[in-house]
Amino acid sequence: MATLKAFLSVVFNIIGCVFSVILWALHRIVDFFKIQLNFTSTKMRKDEINARTTINPDELEIFSGYSDWWDPNGKIMGLHSLNSIRIPFIKDGLVKDTNQINNKPLKGIKILDVGCGGGLLSEPLARLGATVTGIDPCKELIDIAEAHKLLDPELENNKPTYIATTVEEHNTQFSNYYDVVIASEVIDHINNPEFFIQSCTKAVKPGGTIFFTAPNRTWLSRFGVIFFAENVINLVPKGTHHYENFVTPEELTAILEKNNCRVETVRGFFYNIFTKKWSNIKLLHLMYGLQATKLN
Ligand SMILES: C[S@@+](CC[C@H](N)C(=O)[O-])C[C@H]1O[C@@H](n2cnc3c(N)ncnc32)[C@H](O)[C@@H]1O
Repeated sequence: MATLKAFLSVVFNIIGCVFSVILWALHRIVDFFKIQLNFTSTKMRKDEINARTTINPDELEIFSGYSDWWDPNGKIMGLHSLNSIRIPFIKDGLVKDTNQINNKPLKGIKILDVGCGGGLLSEPLARLGATVTGIDPCKELIDIAEAHKLLDPELENNKPTYIATTVEEHNTQFSNYYDVVIASEVIDHINNPEFFIQSCTKAVKPGGTIFFTAPNRTWLSRFGVIFFAENVINLVPKGTHHYENFVTPEELTAILEKNNCRVETVRGFFYNIFTKKWSNIKLLHLMYGLQATKLN
């Protein structure tokens, strides 16, 4: 009898142990899947958030503080001087026929200036005859642009329209709408560049043109565009650029091609610190301008 009792106790102990191990294992398995599910949903949430907006709040905070936007010798004098090279780049890219060159060569062309800031590029494009819509999520800059457009009598009959918004939001009403979309010096100040580029291509009509200007991501731009321009010649304020946000022309081209666009021209921009003038160069390592066509 005692032997039977001992035997049964051993058997129950073994069964208890086996059950405990099974329960422990089940618990671990459930925990594992919970973590996986949680991870997947968090990741999806992050992707969803990123996919819905290109806004980087830290960048917007920096730009909202630039109140001397229209001072050619102020904080953003680099953007002022850049007009001397980016406006001919855009104009010549759009008007091939030299017979068409008059004082309103862009007349009849609908342009979206994405990330227009205080309107430094929108206004001269409107003066060349284009119908310009400038958008920027920074309300303070849109207010500056709105106020400034009233100052020039030459803009009297062709003032740009400014809207405080992002391109992805604007696309909900105006996709496949513009003849030309421009994002000049914006791509390195946003979140989710792939979504931003895709949204720019969405805003333009099939057969329309897209322009980007931006710093390249090379050791030379790290030195020239960040260290030198921000700390030595003060062409742009300190902390404006973040190397890891720079997009190379190759990356931009690959994303454009994925979105049914063909790159037509890529050109290097170079700032001569002695003459204080910009010129076109073949080398793309510092700053570049890119023109693409949205295919039908
Ligand atoms: C370096 S400034 C360039 C302004 C203007 N394009 C120019 O060149 O004169 C960058 C601009 O991008 C705008 N920006 C920031 N995030 C943006 C976003 N997600 N979509 C569009 N513009 C954005 C900023 O508010 C700022 O006006």
